[in-house]
Amino acid sequence: MKALVLTSKEQGVILNTDYPQPVANAGEVRIKMLAAALNHRDVWINQGQYGGIKYPTILGSDGVGMVESLGEGVASEWLGKTVIINPSNQWGDNQRHQSKQYHILGLPKDGTLAEYLTVNADRLRLAPTHLSIEQAAALPLAGLTAYRALFGRAQLQAGEKVLISGIGGGVALFAMQFAIAAGAEVYVSSSSEEKIAYAVQMGAKAGVLYTEENWHKNFVKTYGEVDVVIDSACGNGFAALIDVLALGGRIAFYGGGQGAINGLIPQKVFWKQISIFGSTMGSDEQFQQMVDFVEQHHIIPVVDSVFAFDDGVAAFVRMAEGAQFGKLVVKVS
Ligand SMILES: NC(=O)c1ccc[n+]([C@@H]2O[C@H](COP(=O)([O-])OP(=O)(O)OC[C@H]3O[C@@H](n4cnc5c(N)ncnc54)[C@H](OP(=O)(O)O)[C@@H]3O)[C@@H](O)[C@H]2O)c1
Repeated sequence: MKALVLTSKEQGVILNTDYPQPVANAGEVRIKMLAAALNHRDVWINQGQYGGIKYPTILGSDGVGMVESLGEGVASEWLGKTVIINPSNQWGDNQRHQSKQYHILGLPKDGTLAEYLTVNADRLRLAPTHLSIEQAAALPLAGLTAYRALFGRAQLQAGEKVLISGIGGGVALFAMQFAIAAGAEVYVSSSSEEKIAYAVQMGAKAGVLYTEENWHKNFVKTYGEVDVVIDSACGNGFAALIDVLALGGRIAFYGGGQGAINGLIPQKVFWKQISIFGSTMGSDEQFQQMVDFVEQHHIIPVVDSVFAFDDGVAAFVRMAEGAQFGKLVVKVS
C-alpha cells in the first residue's frame, strides 16, 4: 500500500508505494483511509525532535476512513461506517493525567497517513455528519487538545475573557472556535495581520501581533485583562502572558515551541493568584465530549489546504514554514 513513512533521520518522511498492508487482530478494525491531517507533532518527529522515534513508522495521528474489515470480537455494526479515530491510547481512568502506558497514534504505532490503518474498535467514533471528509480528518488530535486545555484545565466559563496565542495554529483555532461557542469573549495573537483578520471574521473580538514590542501593555490598555490564556509557545514570551492575566487568571499551555520559560516574575504569579496548567491531549471522556460539542455547535474545522497523497511531503514543508491558517489535510483516496 501507499504510505508516508518516516524512513530515517537523514531522509525524513517519504512516500513509500510498497508498504505492507496491516491486518486487523482481535478487537481491531481495518480502516480504508479517506483523508488524514497533520499536526505539528508530525513535523517535530520528522525533524528528529521527539522522544522515542523509531524507523520505519507511518506518521499521522488524525484521519477519517471507512471500516472495511473487522478483527475477531468486533461488533459488525462498524462495517462500512465512516469513522474518525481517537488518537489517544491507554489514557486510563484518571481524568487528571494519562497513564504511563499512554501513547499517541502515529508513533510508536503506524499512523493515519496510509491507505490502510488498523486500530482498536474502541478508538472509533462515527464522523460528524455536518463535516466534509477533509474537515472531519482535521478534528481529532487538535480538537481534543484544545478542549482539555480550555475546559478541562483552564475551566473557561461563559462570559469570561480569553486570549488564544498564535492563532494560525491548528489547536489554537479550535480553542478559539470552542471558546466562542461556549460564550466567552475571545482575543487572539499572531505573527500575521492577515491571520488576525481571519480570526476576527470568525468571531474573535480583536487581535494583536505578538511580534511587536510591548504588545502586552498595549493589549491591556486597549482591551483590559483576561481571565484565561491558552498558549503553545512558552519561551521568552511567556512572562508577558502573565501580565495580561487578571487576578485569579488561569493559563493553560500545551506546547513549548519557543523553548524554556525565561523571565517569569514569581511575585506576579502568586500575588495575582494565577494558576499555570500544563495540558496534553485528553481522556477518552473528553474526546467524546469534544466531538459532542462540535456536533452540538456545528463547529467546522478550519482547513488551510488539502494535498494530494502523492504530494503529502509538501504538507510537512508548509507546516514547518508556519504559513498556514488552520489544518493541513492529505487526501488519501
Ligand atoms: N501537548 C499536546 O497534547 C499537544 C497537542 C497538539 C500540539 N501540541 C504542540 O503545540 C504546538 C502547536 O501545535 P499545532 O499542531 O497547533 O501547530 P501548528 O498548526 O503548526 O501551529 C503552530 C502555531 O504556533 C504559533 N506560534 C509560533 N511562534 C509563536 C510565538 N512566539 N508566540 C505565540 N505563538 C506562536 C504560530 O501562530 P501564528 O502563525 O498565528 O503566528 C503557529 O501557527 C506544537 O509545539 C505542538 O507540538 C501539543
